[in-house]
Amino acid sequence: MKKFNNVIVRKPCRALVDGISGGTYEGKPDYEKAVVQHAAYREALKKCGVEVTVLEADERYPDSCFVEDPALITSKCAIITNPGAESRKGEEKEIIGAVKKFFSDDKIEFIKDPGTLEGGDVMMVGDHFYVGRSARTNEEGIRQLTEILAKYGMTCSEVKLEEVLHLKTGINYLEDNNMLVSGEFVTKPDFEKFNKVEIPEDEAYAANCIWMNGTVIVPEGYPTVLKAVQDLGYKTLVVDTSEYRKVDGGLSCLSLRF
Ligand code: GLY
Repeated sequence: MKKFNNVIVRKPCRALVDGISGGTYEGKPDYEKAVVQHAAYREALKKCGVEVTVLEADERYPDSCFVEDPALITSKCAIITNPGAESRKGEEKEIIGAVKKFFSDDKIEFIKDPGTLEGGDVMMVGDHFYVGRSARTNEEGIRQLTEILAKYGMTCSEVKLEEVLHLKTGINYLEDNNMLVSGEFVTKPDFEKFNKVEIPEDEAYAANCIWMNGTVIVPEGYPTVLKAVQDLGYKTLVVDTSEYRKVDGGLSCLSLRF
């Protein structure tokens, strides 16, 4: 099934080494390795039938390769978010130019102060969006998002996060009613209606896989998750994200898919 035609990514900058990290994964990113891994990520995306728009690295923002956070792109509109992390404020202004290549001004919406919202907290399931209330996404940000989505006939529901950074750190939708869930999301009633694939704790990072037009991209080094995804009938591609993991970045964080 083809759903996505385009992807926007931004190359990692040398300052990635100073990216925000909660310390779950040890070490500092190796820039040269991150560059190689990013190129492999782009190749994997291309294999899934999408046009990849590549933005240049931006040294002012260590986490700027995680383009999923400063924007949310839906089938009907694009929403420029308002990052909650201090060091990421300003990234939203730098993504507008790329978004404008695909959306006219009247279809570009904005989350404004005092609302904060990061795209990693938003999970799309058809025309419904689950949004994590987190350290990065506040009540006002969710209120504004709900209002914007309603304007386009789409809906939103809040999920309170207790442990993880972003909603999609621990849960991801693979289409066809299938959902990868780890940690706090295993028992949350919000997701009862889905076919939940429970991720073991030692592979929790791989809850962040991405569905790309029928293929699922899985991070390297997580055999249980890889098999579980293949058992669901998906084709898979494996990409090494070890350098991004050190600053809490996953496969979904590295792209905007639409
Ligand atoms: N390092 C990714 C983030 O914290 O936003």
